[in-house]
Amino acid sequence: MREQIEAAAARYPDQRSAIMPALLIAQKEHGYLPAPVLEEVADILGVERIWVYELATFYTLFHTTPVGRFHLQLCDNVSCMLRGSEDLLRHLEAVLGIEKGGTTPDGLFTLSTVECLGACEMAPVMQVGDDYHGDLDIARLGALLDRLCKAAGQVTSAERVVVGAPGG
Ligand code: FES
Repeated sequence: MREQIEAAAARYPDQRSAIMPALLIAQKEHGYLPAPVLEEVADILGVERIWVYELATFYTLFHTTPVGRFHLQLCDNVSCMLRGSEDLLRHLEAVLGIEKGGTTPDGLFTLSTVECLGACEMAPVMQVGDDYHGDLDIARLGALLDRLCKAAGQVTSAERVVVGAPGG
């Protein structure tokens, strides 16, 4: 991680400008950004630790707590809200058995809402990892969850509802 951050930082005249790429490298390495990692990033760059904390806690693409294997980031800004993101959120909470901000007990899914993803033309939009999924409705969302479950070798989303249902 240190070598990658130093190589990235060499492209910037001001080390403070290298914090964002350094955090991306660190998060890819560790999965999330706990305090010791943030401090290490600051030390590698030779910048104030508070500058690193500020960026890591401001942007939703950085995670200071562990997230599931699939981080579902549903946009809830105006365009997506007008096109049904609230219904999608309720559906996701029901299927996954968690509330917004939560992670499924098996560590497979974390569910978050985020500000505009800059893809309003295909609202409602959800980001999963580096991929955007747009024009979502309940059926497309279900198909997407099924693909993710299968990719992880887990039960499908429909089966998760049955398994997670009271008495199921
Ligand atoms: S409002 Fe959802 S992508 Fe812009």
